[in-house]
Amino acid sequence: MCGIVAACAERNIIPILIDGLRRLEYRGYDSAGLACLPADGQLHHQAEVGKVADLVAALDEKLAAPTGIAHTRWATHGSPTRANAHPHVSSDRVAVVHNGIIENFESLREELQADGYTFRSETDTEVIVHLLDRALAAGQEPLEALRATCKRLEGAYAIAAIMRDQPGRVLGARLGSPLVVGVGVGEHFLASDAAALVPVTQQMMFLEDGDLVEITRKQVKVHSQDLTPVQRKVRISSLPADAVDKGPYRHFMEKEIHEQPEAIATTLNAHLEGTRICPSLDRSLLKRVRAVHIIACGTSFHAGLVARYWIESMAGVPVSVEVASEYRYRRPAIPDDTLLIAISQSGETADTLAALGRSEELGYLATLGICNVPESALTRQCDHVLMTRAGLEVGVASTKAFTTQLTVLLLFTAALTKARGGDARLVHKMLEDLGHAPQQAREVLAMDDRVQAIAEEIAEKPHALFLGRGIEYPIAMEGALKLKEVSYIHAEAYAAGELKHGPLALVDDTLPVIVPASSNALLAKLVSNLQEVRARGGRLYVFADRGVDMAAHPRVEIIEVPAPHSLISPILQILPLQFLAYYVGVLKGTDVDQPRNLAKSVTVE
Ligand code: F6R
Repeated sequence: MCGIVAACAERNIIPILIDGLRRLEYRGYDSAGLACLPADGQLHHQAEVGKVADLVAALDEKLAAPTGIAHTRWATHGSPTRANAHPHVSSDRVAVVHNGIIENFESLREELQADGYTFRSETDTEVIVHLLDRALAAGQEPLEALRATCKRLEGAYAIAAIMRDQPGRVLGARLGSPLVVGVGVGEHFLASDAAALVPVTQQMMFLEDGDLVEITRKQVKVHSQDLTPVQRKVRISSLPADAVDKGPYRHFMEKEIHEQPEAIATTLNAHLEGTRICPSLDRSLLKRVRAVHIIACGTSFHAGLVARYWIESMAGVPVSVEVASEYRYRRPAIPDDTLLIAISQSGETADTLAALGRSEELGYLATLGICNVPESALTRQCDHVLMTRAGLEVGVASTKAFTTQLTVLLLFTAALTKARGGDARLVHKMLEDLGHAPQQAREVLAMDDRVQAIAEEIAEKPHALFLGRGIEYPIAMEGALKLKEVSYIHAEAYAAGELKHGPLALVDDTLPVIVPASSNALLAKLVSNLQEVRARGGRLYVFADRGVDMAAHPRVEIIEVPAPHSLISPILQILPLQFLAYYVGVLKGTDVDQPRNLAKSVTVE
């Protein structure tokens, strides 16, 4: 879970590497480094603990080179130190950057040590560079040496390497971790993500698992694992060059919260064609679906939990939802004709991909991916895909990905209900409510002043409790996740009815209790649970839609979410909770876009 960028050009590529690293920083940000081949014929490398800015501050301003590789790290093996930062170098002639995990690194390390190699880091990556060096020293051609190296590796990797004796050449390989080639005019690039390269080229070639690649200024050569040349399509990236730009906002998270109305509208348009809902999905497949299993992690898992309420109550199909990290090691019983849905913003999450990888063996009817990144591993692995159109999400805390996932999941519910001959009025209502979502989201987002005032109070507390009932329960979970990741305040979410079974013991007059509430059938039950909190002195903050009678609940801080109750309430209910987390984070001075210890895509187990 790191970011890689590499370049071969006529011009000086150091600014390109640095800009690429800045764009990839969301993938990891505990250390950064680069290696290049300047005109003096030496291999120059440098790494610093901290962010890309720390690397830039330490670099010699005059450093210039036409070929180089760079890396921003999220530590897995070995703590974030300079010695563990990439690039790793062998014999002063080979440098490697790596994203992924090499599972058999310990046995390889022993073998290489026995061969005389000295290890300077605690990383798994260092075995790669020594293996490559050993193969080159044995006289193998660069590509053959890379192939021999990759053959020895177990685990996941995207690699870029340069060699002192091969100026103007970068080698790359991928298995399980993403790597894209940027095709320029007389210059070529590699990166973990197209977003790193859009300022220099829009033409991208997405490599596949097992691909080995060699780039020079003039050529890109892709080979399969047995060194047979293969062709990979060049696609034009739709990402604008300013995609990684905060615009008028202070943080990406703030920008992305505000982008939600547009992102929801774009997602809706992508999956509605006249009266056809999700036209890319085969009706006959939907008709056959008798059960749905959903796997995902983190925020995407919460989207799956919301979808369970929709799919079961409207399409009448039983749904189970599970975090992929648990599911992947279980032997689940799969009813006949079960559809497996994998939800992932990045399409790279290792646990979700591994869980998905079992679908054939387990005998699912088909797999459906809900994903925000085109060409990601998840989109390639699934039989069917419904893309969310959130645009690039840079803030590590997921916001617009969540609401667009919910949008797609409600559309999917409508398509499934329709295909199974369900209530046409209900399908109509789903579409009607979804049609209002962008405008209503805009109105809800206009309430941020009110949320800011509450954030001042929450920022002083060490803990917070989130409660929800029914479909608001996963929204409470998502609100708690947002608060803990961006403000570092300990937050827990409970189903409100569970309060008296334990968590009520936590409640006293210092504990803020935050509650998304809708005027739905469970409101009366929720209100009784809130009385239990109030009776113990807990400070209640209830984010209630317009249907909740405020006068009926004295001594409760009611924050009106300016929208009526409807099928899309969960999409609207999360917005003030995202804001709340954001403002608390800002007040506490945390790095809201890049919270400590986290990274945007979790490509390792
Ligand atoms: C939380 C967050 C994470 C991700 C999780 C899954 O704000 O962003 O919990 O939701 O790591 O990531 P994806 O959706 O990329 O599979």
